[in-house]
Amino acid sequence: MYIENLRIINFRNYDEAYLKFNKHINLLLGRNGQGKTNILEAIYMLSIGKSFRTNKDGEIVKFGKENSYIGGSYVKYSRNNTIEIGLRKNNKKGIKINKVSIDKIGHILGKFNVVVFSPEDLRLVKEGPSERRKFIDREISQIIPKYYNHLYNYNKILGQRNKVLKNVNVDAALLDVFDDSLSNEGAWIYIYRRRFVDKIKMLSKQIHDKLTDGVENLDIKYISQIDIQRDDSHESIKSRFYEKLKNNIQSDIMNKVTKIGPHRDDIQIIINDLDVKLYGSQGQQRTAAISLKLSQIELINEEVKEYPVVLLDDIFSELDEKRQKLLIDSLGEIQIFITSAEEGHKKIFEDKQYDIFRVENGQIS
Ligand SMILES: Nc1ncnc2c1ncn2[C@@H]1O[C@H](COP(=O)(O)OP(=O)(O)O)[C@@H](O)[C@H]1O
Ligand SMILES: [Mg+2]
Repeated sequence: MYIENLRIINFRNYDEAYLKFNKHINLLLGRNGQGKTNILEAIYMLSIGKSFRTNKDGEIVKFGKENSYIGGSYVKYSRNNTIEIGLRKNNKKGIKINKVSIDKIGHILGKFNVVVFSPEDLRLVKEGPSERRKFIDREISQIIPKYYNHLYNYNKILGQRNKVLKNVNVDAALLDVFDDSLSNEGAWIYIYRRRFVDKIKMLSKQIHDKLTDGVENLDIKYISQIDIQRDDSHESIKSRFYEKLKNNIQSDIMNKVTKIGPHRDDIQIIINDLDVKLYGSQGQQRTAAISLKLSQIELINEEVKEYPVVLLDDIFSELDEKRQKLLIDSLGEIQIFITSAEEGHKKIFEDKQYDIFRVENGQIS
């Protein structure tokens, strides 16, 4: 799939801009702080309705303005579609798909698929489990929108359960009601995450093998408190999760918080039998993060039957020329957006079809 055009109004440092994109490579060049990433952010918002940089929509509205608009048209399965987002500074956003308003933000998911690479991806490898859960959750939601509903319900019930646990006298009967629905939603989350990790594990292994000329063996492990096998039924996972909640009830009451469940999951990233987070070099960590992201692109293609749009934010300057070339070649015919402060990167695309956008102080030429 590819995005044909983008219109933004009062978005970050832009008053108004209308851009037509190349189906293949789009190079956004300009000094720092001029508005390159802002364009990628606008494109990304059309895919999940949220930024990859902030959870606060108000930050996106141009300083001194009340509303912003982001609209774009993309082609998927050879059909044209439009997505429009209206942001209001202190209010709920409105989203239209093909001119029809959607009533739930979640309904935007799975329409226009985007994968973004940024220097922050390193956090995926280096930081704590919550970064990796966020990655997994966003990525599965893009492919399987109903996963987002399970997650939404799970978090809501978890919040209610934790609230009960904070009471001086815990109401056991009430807790049991929550445990039943929590294990029901949680079991779906376990199932989808297990499938996701299985697929990512295979794909990223092959990709990492290529990127490192076969020197490094990448492995991904799903870490959860309940041992989830590939063929486990929802019923069986639910009952084991429910049991475990029951067995831990005294400890939860003491800690005043739920310590069992998929909200404690993690994935372990391993290179040549060693945990990359603990023992990997900076270069290994960076390549592992790129392999994971690239596997995401392949997974979307497998599930959605079309490649996503790929955004490469400032990651070029971190790679040596050989890896830059490997990365671009591995992306094949996919539509990509690359931001950079360095003109020099142009030579990597010389034999390819590309457009250049020069970005200066919220203006594009
Ligand atoms: N809500 C906003 N209103 C106006 N300007 C903003 C807003 N948010 C960010 N900016 C400006 O956008 C610029 C950063 O844009 P960005 O796309 O991140 O730059 P870069 O070209 O380095 O990627 C900064 O100058 C910042 O002040
Ligand atoms: Mg930037």
